Amino acid sequence: MADEKGRGSTGLSRRKFITGVGTVVGAGVAMPSATLLKPAPAEAAPVALGPGAVSLTLNVNGKDVTVQVEPRETLAEVLRNHLDLTGTKIACDRGGCGACTVMLDGKTVYSCMTLAVDAVGKKVVTVEGLGEDHPVIQAFVKHDALQCGYCTPGFVVSGAALVARKKNPTLEDVKEAICGNVCRCGTYMGIFAALREAGGGA
Ligand code: FES
Ligand code: FES
Repeated sequence: MADEKGRGSTGLSRRKFITGVGTVVGAGVAMPSATLLKPAPAEAAPVALGPGAVSLTLNVNGKDVTVQVEPRETLAEVLRNHLDLTGTKIACDRGGCGACTVMLDGKTVYSCMTLAVDAVGKKVVTVEGLGEDHPVIQAFVKHDALQCGYCTPGFVVSGAALVARKKNPTLEDVKEAICGNVCRCGTYMGIFAALREAGGGA
């Protein structure tokens, strides 16, 4: 309830309250106006590449490599056909199985659905880049988490990304991390156990 000087139960007078609100609103209005007055940055003109081969420098497993590739070539094709990194598999070649999974700046991507030109300036990590001593690879061996092995590099890369970002993953975390990978041999129980152990969660 306000007293005769316009003070509420907080002791704040109506005049002080209105003055305070005016300051905040004024500040709030000034910032967008200043932003609006800034000229919009000029849009960069699109660069046309191809159809012939162009020179690209990619950072793969910590090393810069320069390749001559056609701009239509996918990252999976460039890794396998130009850089001899055949650990990355191409199975469906249309984003449906995860055999081609690699990391791009720490995030898993389907390399069959990524153009090599779009990997320029980013860090590509393939299964070869993890190294044989990687805990996920060691756990796959221990838990016999493969049969034909064709899907395995993709699962290993997805698992390595999981254990890098999450300690002690739960079974649900593991399932979510590999939900974009398919194993036709049905080795899921071994993969679950391997990834939980590699992340310290088992
Ligand atoms: S080969 Fe890329 S998702 Fe199947
Ligand atoms: S081990 Fe054969 S497809 Fe997974």
